[in-house]
Amino acid sequence: MAKNNPIGVFDSGVGGSSIWQEIHKLLPLENIIYLADSKNAPYGNKSSEEITTLSIKNVEKLLELGCKIIVVACNTATTNAISTLREKYDIPIIGIEPAIKPAALQTSSKSIGILATKGTLSSALFSKTTREFTKDIHVVEIIGEGLVPLIEVGNLDGPEMISLLKKHTKPMIDANVDYVVLGCSHYPYIIPQLKKILPENVKIIDSGEAVARQTKTVLQSLNLLREENTKPKLQFYTNAETDTLKFLLKEYSEKISVEKIDF
Ligand code: SIN
Repeated sequence: MAKNNPIGVFDSGVGGSSIWQEIHKLLPLENIIYLADSKNAPYGNKSSEEITTLSIKNVEKLLELGCKIIVVACNTATTNAISTLREKYDIPIIGIEPAIKPAALQTSSKSIGILATKGTLSSALFSKTTREFTKDIHVVEIIGEGLVPLIEVGNLDGPEMISLLKKHTKPMIDANVDYVVLGCSHYPYIIPQLKKILPENVKIIDSGEAVARQTKTVLQSLNLLREENTKPKLQFYTNAETDTLKFLLKEYSEKISVEKIDF
């Protein structure tokens, strides 16, 4: 595999572009292809089998496009499909899991909140991680029902979003959490709105930086980091409308391309 080949990133939709931003920040020379399966979003309420089938379809597309490593920038796809993907493909595959461990280690109130999709919260991988790290900690698990469809259409701060966020965070506030773990790659886009609703002492953590660091470590260990010091190709492909990706990534508009394709 050539060092110049792109990193492939996929998500159920536009949310994984929050992870893309962290990868691009850490690895600015890398060519990256991002695949948004928005036509099938949200994955969160689908069965594990459906999520795995969709994840395989996305990986096949990224392989066809010559990717040297795959980043599953979707918590729901990671928790439900990553072991199948790793068994099926030889290429390195990085996943994203909720940052439960750092929250559990740092909480003073011994109470943490986790906001994620139904598919993530009900997965075996999530239960295993939670059991392992939160033995004497109260964990408030909340399904972020309704959030992904709003983010998919770029509705980040309308009244519907604010009222959903108030509803989802109330049990966490009532339980005196001091950390809220974002367990869905769409949610970093609503951190400003969450901050306005949560008490000031509550910290919000997501896994974007950790995924980017892990991607770098794996590429380094395989001697696959791009070394050419020329402008990287940053391509975004979606199977739905391009508007939301363009809106979320407006600060990168000069250097990225966003295209609608079938996959
Ligand atoms: C979804 O498609 O429901 C959310 C994606 C995620 O879990 O990151």
